[in-house]
Amino acid sequence: MRGGGPRATLPLDDNRRPDMDRDHVRINRDVWNADAENWVAAGERLWAADAPVWGNWGAPEAGLGLLRADLSGKDAIELGCGTGYVSGWMARRGARVTGIDVSPDQLATARRLAREHGADITLIEGNAEATGLPDAAFDFAISEYGAAIWCRPEVWLREAWRLLRPGGKLVFLGNHPLVLVCSPASGAPCDRTLHRPYRTLWGVDWSVVEIDPSGVCFNLPMSGWMRLFADIGFVVEEYQEIYIPEGETGTQSSIPAAWGQDFPAEQVWHLGKPG
Ligand SMILES: C[S@@+](CC[C@H](N)C(=O)[O-])C[C@H]1O[C@@H](n2cnc3c(N)ncnc32)[C@H](O)[C@@H]1O
Repeated sequence: MRGGGPRATLPLDDNRRPDMDRDHVRINRDVWNADAENWVAAGERLWAADAPVWGNWGAPEAGLGLLRADLSGKDAIELGCGTGYVSGWMARRGARVTGIDVSPDQLATARRLAREHGADITLIEGNAEATGLPDAAFDFAISEYGAAIWCRPEVWLREAWRLLRPGGKLVFLGNHPLVLVCSPASGAPCDRTLHRPYRTLWGVDWSVVEIDPSGVCFNLPMSGWMRLFADIGFVVEEYQEIYIPEGETGTQSSIPAAWGQDFPAEQVWHLGKPG
């Protein structure tokens, strides 16, 4: 799985937007149900971690600051919570936490680990693009490779906006768009060639390929993200690019370490909903 998720790509000349004509939510739910057992060990390790680490190479919280040290009295939601360790970290910092995920099998792991760690977290099965939760119910929303990459940006970001109170914050982490641009249509690891247009980048349909097919993921060019945030009303408070640490070798999540030491493998957006 690439990016905390799947791999493989559409043929280069196929610029269809699958979100327009395919049920990406169902496809992604089925992929994650089928793959859930492969994420149990990572979930157990990260629930037990002393301090948060982020993304596929465990970037330390100290250098990124995704979570405030004290979330006491705050209502927080994780959109696409998977095995729920980010929810667990927020609960440990004092937040009242809700985690939503479309995959019942991922949620089964999250529920077991929350129980084992004594974390009082509300875990809901549902679609982060349309949660059904009340308006302005949260102070903080976060997604690490959940809605951040598996949901249509123009839909889930509006939903996150609706869920947040004025003054609320949204932080999300996922693949850097360069990773998709540099990913060959074959599904092989990304390399130093531009394999697909940046201008029309919407994401990649990893479900229609022969090598290791999986789900439909989403991304945008920088100007697309910035325009979308502005249209919704979000203010960009910080933007971070994450490189793979020096000393890492080999290939993980379809990204060779050497590639990710020269190009950003991941990105983090910190957004605010003005008060
Ligand atoms: C890589 S996990 C990310 C969560 C967490 N950081 C982890 O690694 O366990 C991706 C999660 O996104 C969830 N997901 C995908 N599409 C979703 C949607 N439309 N609504 C809610 N969750 C979704 C999947 O079910 C999966 O559990």
